[in-house]
Amino acid sequence: MPIQKTLSIIKPDAVVKNLTGKINARLEDAGLRIIAQKRLQLTRSQAEKFYEVHREKAFFDDLCEHMSSAPVVVQVLCGENAVSKNREIMGATNPANAEIGTIRRDFGQSIEHNVVHGSDSPENADIEIKFFFSQLEIIE
Ligand code: CMP
Repeated sequence: MPIQKTLSIIKPDAVVKNLTGKINARLEDAGLRIIAQKRLQLTRSQAEKFYEVHREKAFFDDLCEHMSSAPVVVQVLCGENAVSKNREIMGATNPANAEIGTIRRDFGQSIEHNVVHGSDSPENADIEIKFFFSQLEIIE
């Protein structure tokens, strides 16, 4: 299985509820390694840039409003099949449809307040990691 990196964001709804440690434990217990991590607050325009691919969607404004409403914790996760493994641990986008025991099912409130973001492909992981981190900040 390939060793991959993926970008994870612990979203404002989870940071406000002080869930960072619980979420990190889920990631580490599943075998992923947090090789970079920082807490920051996105500006509205940074959130819009990150989610540019969703600009035409009806939920774009609310999504960017939420993502810039409070701090986030951005992380680079590393491990075997990290992209798909992280998506498994997160669960479906809508917490109501996520498997029991996944992060979104256990901590999420709604499709918008769904606790975490994870890259959906190795190619996007590369782009998303570069959005937040310089090479110097990623310690393998
Ligand atoms: P995320 O993995 O961060 O990627 C885009 C986000 O948009 C997604 O998680 C959800 O929080 C949000 N999203 C996706 N679909 C919808 C929807 N139909 N309504 C509201 N928000 C959505």
